[in-house]
Amino acid sequence: MREKVAVIGAGFVGTMTAQRIAEKNLADVVLVDIIEGVPQGKALDMNHAASLVEMEAAVQGTNDFAEIRDSRVVVVTAGFPRMPGMSREELAAKNGKIIQSVVSRVREFAPECVLLIVTNPLDIMAYTAWKLSGFPARRVLGMGGVLDTARYEFLLARELGVSVRDIDALVIGSHGDTMIPLVEYSRARGVPIKSLLPEDRIEKILERTKNSGAEIVGLLKTGSAFHAPSASAAAMVEAVLKDSGRLLAASVLLEGQYGIRDVFIGAPIRLGADGVESIYEIVLSAAELQAYRDSAAAIRQFLDKISAS
Ligand code: LAC
Repeated sequence: MREKVAVIGAGFVGTMTAQRIAEKNLADVVLVDIIEGVPQGKALDMNHAASLVEMEAAVQGTNDFAEIRDSRVVVVTAGFPRMPGMSREELAAKNGKIIQSVVSRVREFAPECVLLIVTNPLDIMAYTAWKLSGFPARRVLGMGGVLDTARYEFLLARELGVSVRDIDALVIGSHGDTMIPLVEYSRARGVPIKSLLPEDRIEKILERTKNSGAEIVGLLKTGSAFHAPSASAAAMVEAVLKDSGRLLAASVLLEGQYGIRDVFIGAPIRLGADGVESIYEIVLSAAELQAYRDSAAAIRQFLDKISAS
C-alpha cells in the first residue's frame, strides 16, 4: 500500500505542498478544504499533469475529513492570511478556531499521524494544535525553521556568489521577528561565514532573513509566500516518510531545554518516522541564548494574552 499524506487547506500553500509531494511520488495526497469544488478541481488539475511530470501518486480533493483516514502525515495549512489592519491577536483568534475544528477531525480520523502545522502565527498555532490533539509532543511540529533557514541560506549564497548547495546554516527561535539565524553555525563548505564576509554584510543578511516573510507580503500585496513555504513543508513530510533523520529546525515543544518550557519554538531537531526524535541542545553564545529566551518569552506572552481574551 502506498503512503498517504493529508493536506488541509487548498489555498496557495496547501495546493503547492500537495503538488510537490505528489510530483516527487512521495505519497498519495488527500487535499481537504471546506469550499465545495475547490479541492476537487485543484486535485483534478494536478492529476491531469500526471503523464507530463511522471507523477504516479494520486491526488484526491475532498470536503470530507473522513478521507484523511490513516494518513501518515497531516499538514495543516488552513487559515486566514494576515489582512491589512489585522492584529496578530485577531489573526491568532480566527486561525485558532480553524485549528480547533481541524484538530478534532484529525484526532478522529488520523490519530496516529505526525501533525505538521503551517498555519500562522506558527508557533502559537503549533502549540494550540498540540494541546487540542492530546498527541505526544513528538508527533506535533510546526514548519518555520526550515523556511527561515532556506531563506538565510539563499541570501548567504547570493552574497558570497557561491552555490546554495555549499551553504549550511541554521535558524532557530520563533517564526517571526524574533527568529535567530545562528552566525557561528553558518558555513560555506565548512568555512565559517565570519571569515568570508564582513560583519556589516552579515548583519544585513540577518535583517533581510528576518523580514523575508514581510518582504514577500509587501511585494505581492494581496497574499503571502507559498513557493518556499510549500517546499519547506514538503521537505519535512519527506523526512518523516523516508525516516531520513534529517537535522533541521522546527517548532517543537521545549520542556526545559535552553531554560525554556511550555512553548512551541524553533529548535534543532532530528526528524524521522516518529516525528521529533531528538531535540538538540547546542552551544549558543550568551547573546544568542538571551535572544532565544526572549523569543520564547514573547511567544509565552502571546499565548497568555490570547488565552485570557
Ligand atoms: C512567511 C509567512 C507566510 O514567512 O510565514 O512567508
